[in-house]
Amino acid sequence: MANVFLIPQYIVYGENALKASMDEIRSYGKKAMIVTDKNMVDLGYIKKLCAELDGIGVSYFIYPDINSEPNHTMVDRGVELYKNENCDFLISLGGGSPIDTMKAIAAVHSNGGSICDYIGKVLDKDLPPLVAIPTTAGTGSEATKNSIIANANTNVKMLIANPKLIVDCAVLDPEFSLTQPQLVTAATGIDALTHALEAYTSVKANVMSELYAVSAIKRIFANLEEAFNNGANKAARWEMLLAAFEAGISFGNASVTIVHGMSRPIGALFHVPHGISNAMLLKVNLNYLKSGALDRLCELSKAIGVYREGMTVEEGSEAFVAATNALISAMKIPSPIDFGIKKEDFFKYIPKMSEDAMNSGSPQNTRRKPTKEILMELYTQFWNENENNEQ
Ligand SMILES: NC(=O)c1ccc[n+]([C@@H]2O[C@H](COP(=O)([O-])OP(=O)(O)OC[C@H]3O[C@@H](n4cnc5c(N)ncnc54)[C@H](O)[C@@H]3O)[C@@H](O)[C@H]2O)c1
Ligand SMILES: [Fe+2]
Repeated sequence: MANVFLIPQYIVYGENALKASMDEIRSYGKKAMIVTDKNMVDLGYIKKLCAELDGIGVSYFIYPDINSEPNHTMVDRGVELYKNENCDFLISLGGGSPIDTMKAIAAVHSNGGSICDYIGKVLDKDLPPLVAIPTTAGTGSEATKNSIIANANTNVKMLIANPKLIVDCAVLDPEFSLTQPQLVTAATGIDALTHALEAYTSVKANVMSELYAVSAIKRIFANLEEAFNNGANKAARWEMLLAAFEAGISFGNASVTIVHGMSRPIGALFHVPHGISNAMLLKVNLNYLKSGALDRLCELSKAIGVYREGMTVEEGSEAFVAATNALISAMKIPSPIDFGIKKEDFFKYIPKMSEDAMNSGSPQNTRRKPTKEILMELYTQFWNENENNEQ
């Protein structure tokens, strides 16, 4: 079977990447729309970006109103501002939320209509040039053809995937990732791990996606705990930024599976940050998918160095699962109950969450194929395990 493998065309990475990207950015037009959030302004990061743009004579309009739950109204407003301000291209600086919103604004600006109707839509018209400067090490949006935007009316997180949503230029500059708070480091780091792990065990995995997935997983096991415990460690932050990018390439070309499928409805309904809901679900989901992916999980145990001579495939895969659970424990991920989710609300929504998860198409990529009924069981098991741990 033939595979298609897509990555951003222009990747600038390493120390001083922002400055080094200006030669390319200069060719994108005279005025940029900068899509970002308030924290990036307060941290002085937008000022740094603007100083570089001033240096190459590119003017800009700053749209700083994106929060951690980007929805279609932020996209609509962005499209209006982009047009009114006569911008030529877009730059996003921030975590996955501003990057995803930038992509959605560009898509709607060029192709019209509402982002709420973009699932599966063919995008006839090319988008303006897109630049992504990630400040978290997680979503991999700077590498993928995806944008996740919530429909604020239906509370569904829409996964919009289209090759035209791959940015033209990804700028990986460690300078911007040092200030992530611990919870953001944990959430986004586990998000990246989940991307690579799901890509590696996806039925759509291919030779190229596997290379990036394994490399990302090795980097994450070697560096996430250090980045979490010592956020100022630039080397660990850099490794995580690279890992998140590699993980993005892997799942952008092999898809995610059951964890993301089940995680998005929890995020949309209970406002749990994306990486946290992934981390919460990983244990139950790994346990479920394990028997469909024993060989692959065993290979991963070798890659991260927890495989011991003479282990069977089952023991090897179990060693990887145990190492993953230990890493999640070290990240001190809050439980759904800590998040203030009420048991009766959670159970009320289990049918809707299971249905939304199946509709996203992601669970079907799992090597052990689930049904809606199985997802309902897994949501129940997930809640019960967390409740028992609290007691
Ligand atoms: N497009 C994709 O392929 C893809 C993949 C996974 C997730 N997502 C989406 O991405 C979004 C989540 O993105 P995210 O996890 O990167 O978080 P985010 O962009 O929502 O940011 C989380 C918080 O961290 C802060 N922050 C970010 N970088 C910081 C830094 N360097 N220093 C201090 N504070 C910082 C932000 O201001 C914000 O308050 C969700 O909407 C999720 O659904 C997209
Ligand atoms: Fe994710």
